[in-house]
Amino acid sequence: MTTVVIGGAGYIGSHVVRLLQQRGQNVVVVDDLSTGFAERVGDSELVQLDVTSDGAGERLAEVLRRSGADSVIHFAAHKQVGESVEKPEMYWHDNIGGLAHVLEACALAEVRDVVFSSSAAVYGMPDVDLVTEDLTPQPINPYGATKYVGEWMLADAERAHGMRTVALRYFNVAGAGAPELADTLVMNLVPIILDALDRGAAPVVFGTDYPTPDGTCIRDYVHVVDLADAHVAALEYLRREERPHRVFNVGTGTGSSVLEVIDAVARATGREITPELGQRRAGDPARLVCSTDRIRETLGWSSSKTLDDIVRSAVEARAARD
Ligand SMILES: NC(=O)c1ccc[n+]([C@@H]2O[C@H](COP(=O)([O-])OP(=O)(O)OC[C@H]3O[C@@H](n4cnc5c(N)ncnc54)[C@H](O)[C@@H]3O)[C@@H](O)[C@H]2O)c1
Repeated sequence: MTTVVIGGAGYIGSHVVRLLQQRGQNVVVVDDLSTGFAERVGDSELVQLDVTSDGAGERLAEVLRRSGADSVIHFAAHKQVGESVEKPEMYWHDNIGGLAHVLEACALAEVRDVVFSSSAAVYGMPDVDLVTEDLTPQPINPYGATKYVGEWMLADAERAHGMRTVALRYFNVAGAGAPELADTLVMNLVPIILDALDRGAAPVVFGTDYPTPDGTCIRDYVHVVDLADAHVAALEYLRREERPHRVFNVGTGTGSSVLEVIDAVARATGREITPELGQRRAGDPARLVCSTDRIRETLGWSSSKTLDDIVRSAVEARAARD
């Protein structure tokens, strides 16, 4: 059995590649190294290919055939909400065009099982305590829209080509399983706080008047190592006879506020942190925490790591890289 991991040199993809390697599974990575690093894929073969380029479907099909792939995990995408608002065409072209090539390649090479990186961004600004998969997605930015359209494309490919697909809607991914796999982009809250501390600056809290216990936004932080495990559970699920669902939230079911995350960073670093209290940003829901019932009951997956585990692993990975 071979799994082709597209975007496997990236932050999340490389954690999944490593887990599959540890389980003795054959892995081939396809990546254009635009944001990924070749060193992250270890001993697995790395095929450098831009999945958005002309003819990429055919070329990827060749890789799938040659490697005897029976499954594909597709991570490769742009992922910055703000950038997607400024450059929507790039997001439509690359995220949707890239996925179209991946599904075309799977159809040509008769690969049946596909796991796709979706996002909590599909939900937009839901006003609920726990977000369930039954809630109708209402993305509020082009990034979230490309992920939702991507889920429709998977459903179409299932109908047209008999594929089996799973879309995993990741909530807030953080932490690191090893220093060389750590997130290098300063875009998510934990890296933003650590970066501010390194620069001797105060991390900024955007909004302190939300209807939450401490007034700051609440999110569901999932450890990237737990998330990697969810992909393996999804691959196993696709190989089973019965498959009641195609879309799963991946989170912990527990929310942490911005101030709680800052406290966790203070604990992990042993430093006192006094944040700068700023205004709200447009498009930030007060609370975004997922229901984990479906993934627990259907895939048998649940998170094992706490917010402190997540933050500690990110701090340690950063210290090892410096
Ligand atoms: N990191 C998060 O918090 C988060 C949350 C929700 C969803 N996601 C989704 O998870 C996926 C992976 O995210 P990540 O954080 O690991 O990002 P990343 O940028 O670290 O990884 C993406 C990988 O894909 C490769 N890539 C990008 N465009 C490509 C192309 N056209 N052809 C071939 N390879 C290409 C990059 O070189 C990189 O190795 C993305 O689809 C993202 O939208 C991420």
